[in-house]
Amino acid sequence: MIILDGKKTSNDIKEEIADEVKSIIFSGGRIPHLSAILVGNDGASETYVNAKVKACEKVGFKSTLIRLPNSVTEKELLLEVEKINNNQNIDGLIVQLPLPNHLDEMKVTEAIDPKKDVDGFHPSNIGRMCLNLPTYLPATPSGILELLKRYEVNTSGKHCVVIGRSHIVGSPMSILMARNSFPGNCTVTLTHSRTENLKEITKSADILIVALGKSEFINSDMIKEGVCIIDVGITRVKSDKTKSGWKLLGDVNFEDVKNKCSYITPVPGGVGPMTIAMLLQNTLISAKGEIF
Ligand code: GUN
Repeated sequence: MIILDGKKTSNDIKEEIADEVKSIIFSGGRIPHLSAILVGNDGASETYVNAKVKACEKVGFKSTLIRLPNSVTEKELLLEVEKINNNQNIDGLIVQLPLPNHLDEMKVTEAIDPKKDVDGFHPSNIGRMCLNLPTYLPATPSGILELLKRYEVNTSGKHCVVIGRSHIVGSPMSILMARNSFPGNCTVTLTHSRTENLKEITKSADILIVALGKSEFINSDMIKEGVCIIDVGITRVKSDKTKSGWKLLGDVNFEDVKNKCSYITPVPGGVGPMTIAMLLQNTLISAKGEIF
């Protein structure tokens, strides 16, 4: 079994990006700049956004974190988005999801200039992805592709089973794995909460991408010998064995499946760090004007 080491791979990518930033500065160019909007004080969102800002510092990007209270109106939030859209010095804008219930996530996502939509969530960028046109790929699916690519996992002709149909992970992942490229060229099955006989389907997967948000849902009875497992889940549970009192669990029971699979991403240190690296990469692509 080979561990798909997202921590190491994301550090490699961050070093590559940091080198590019140095050469941009050396040739008198403008430093890439990512702006993030965080509404409210959801603990998990705060952790993710802080990690994104810290990663910007690490590679030499500028970053701006705009914190808005839970009580912000949709109009006020849209005004912030508009300001950043019009700021020529900012290359990328993300609005951390989920938003409080009174704010329409789709309306806010659609308000982001597609040229600055480094999350790749804008409908026009999703459309471009579906048509295989140059665009920003959503960071988590893109990070998974990058891991499969760098570890040279053979995907062509394989059966890829995706669990979970979220707009952020499962749905785009299913589209990307079916594309005529490497990684890709899979026969894809997208499963979800209404899927019947899930175990029968997961047992036939050569590549299993699990993004349903239920800790340790996948066990060794549900997989085929030699499968490549990508675990997107991150659930924080109480633990008396760690200093912090918490530990992170994936959607896969790692200990149970580890001897049956060919490749696996650990939690933590698998997909999570890759997501941030790909967000930085999208911001660099935007700063260099490579797509639009
Ligand atoms: N919430 C969970 N994942 C993401 C992400 O990749 N981007 C944003 N903006 N919000 C998220």
